Amino acid sequence: MAEIIDENSRTFGEFLLLPDLTTKNHTLDKVSLEIPLVKHERGNPPPLKLRIPFVSAIMQSVSDHNLAIALAKEGGLSFIFHSQPIERQVEMIKKVKKHKAGFVVSDSNISPDGTLKDVLQIVASTNHSTVAVTVEGQPNGELVGLLTDKDYRDGVDNPDTRVSELMTPISSLKYAYEGIDLENANEILWQEKLDCLPIIDKQHHLTHLVFRKDYEDARTNQSQLVDNQKRLLVGAGINTRDYRERVPELVAAGADILCIDSSDGYSEWQADTIKFVKEEYNGQVLVGAGNVVASNGFLYLVEHGADFVKVGIGPGSICITREQKGIGRGQASALVEISRTRDKYYQEKNVYIPICSDGGIFNDYQSVVALAVGADFLMMGRYFARFNESPGNRVSIGGTLYKEYWAEGTNKASNWQRYELGGESKLQFEEGVEGYVPFAGKLSDGIKGTIARIKSTFCNCGCLSIEELHRKARLVTVSSLSIRESGAHDVILNENVANNTRRRL
Ligand code: IMP
Repeated sequence: MAEIIDENSRTFGEFLLLPDLTTKNHTLDKVSLEIPLVKHERGNPPPLKLRIPFVSAIMQSVSDHNLAIALAKEGGLSFIFHSQPIERQVEMIKKVKKHKAGFVVSDSNISPDGTLKDVLQIVASTNHSTVAVTVEGQPNGELVGLLTDKDYRDGVDNPDTRVSELMTPISSLKYAYEGIDLENANEILWQEKLDCLPIIDKQHHLTHLVFRKDYEDARTNQSQLVDNQKRLLVGAGINTRDYRERVPELVAAGADILCIDSSDGYSEWQADTIKFVKEEYNGQVLVGAGNVVASNGFLYLVEHGADFVKVGIGPGSICITREQKGIGRGQASALVEISRTRDKYYQEKNVYIPICSDGGIFNDYQSVVALAVGADFLMMGRYFARFNESPGNRVSIGGTLYKEYWAEGTNKASNWQRYELGGESKLQFEEGVEGYVPFAGKLSDGIKGTIARIKSTFCNCGCLSIEELHRKARLVTVSSLSIRESGAHDVILNENVANNTRRRL
């Protein structure tokens, strides 16, 4: 007879946090969201910490080098997706490690033969108004000019006008040579009243752009996640198929931590992959594993050497695994069980194993619920896919801006390694969907709002750290009627009145 676990599998939206005494000491500036990223012994500092409890999903539509740079600047970490050739993933890792605060590799580039129409397309897709003009339109090509939105009038100038006729040519541009530091580059920006300073090498190839608006950011951002050489931290997704070839390349490129990406991580393939990473590098390379939804899977991965364990089968916004295969568990229930096991393990062995809750966060307060039920940090896809820095295209639908967001288990992503169970080397059936998410602007702006809301909930709960929330949080389950009570109800909202009035006009 099968074992029936008599449990209502619960998700985040079924819980509310009960406030605790908020003292005068509970202010947002005192809340710390720092949290260990990897396992550590009691009393010893963890080798890696996050400054905010967020990592970005190992997905094509989420974690490339641009998002990784933006997130590490805010104190979180990206795991660059592995569903791409090894050399391309390596390239992305290198771009993050080489990133110099304030020095940007131009992502909007065109050749002088391009037209204004081409420029408008580039600007619409990157949302950046400064376009570098290089001989062949390459980001590191020979610089011949610069074009900004001050050089043309959209809707007035002929879209077929050549870039060479509109741009400011290099002969009239201020630029600086590679090797200049940020302080001096900024001095030129101020002295010359410029918005952007191109940096070139001896052969006149463009290396970076320095923007006036980025300077203050770079100077004041104390929360960046950096290594001991002040380079931004970055993680890399790996799979249980080609790890023997992929891992050495990623480690050589400077990846700070690896994470095995699989929809079901309770497998001997994961054990083999962890064993390889640990033996090959004498335990020096860090690797997370998952995903699991119960204590048996958690302990299996821990015993084989995982540095953190990822929890979640089926909660993702684009995920249809539960519908397709009937496996999974409500995300909150999975976290409750596994965090109890993690705490027991800590009591008995004096080793703390961080838990990453992967997927299913729909709003900011649910992040606090996930942390309260035991997660140490959260992996999110939908949340990050909405920002300017994610890889998906920005599209306008009915006048509203969206970003593309597609799952790893779609034919589009074709990440069969994430779903394979020793079968053919291809995706047998889809476990995810393709869609859109509302465009949310710059990551740094969005994340600041999220962090402020989270810290505010921490204060309501009388907590100043995630560790304290783990110990003190009290949660209640909600009925469907109390969920209705949680939103605005029984009033006519202003926006409806406005819409009706507009319709009548
Ligand atoms: P979200 O934050 O709710 O959008 O969930 C993101 C998570 O969904 C990722 O970190 C993955 O664990 C998971 N995921 C990505 N692609 C798929 C898929 O095709 N099927 C099931 N889960 C997926």
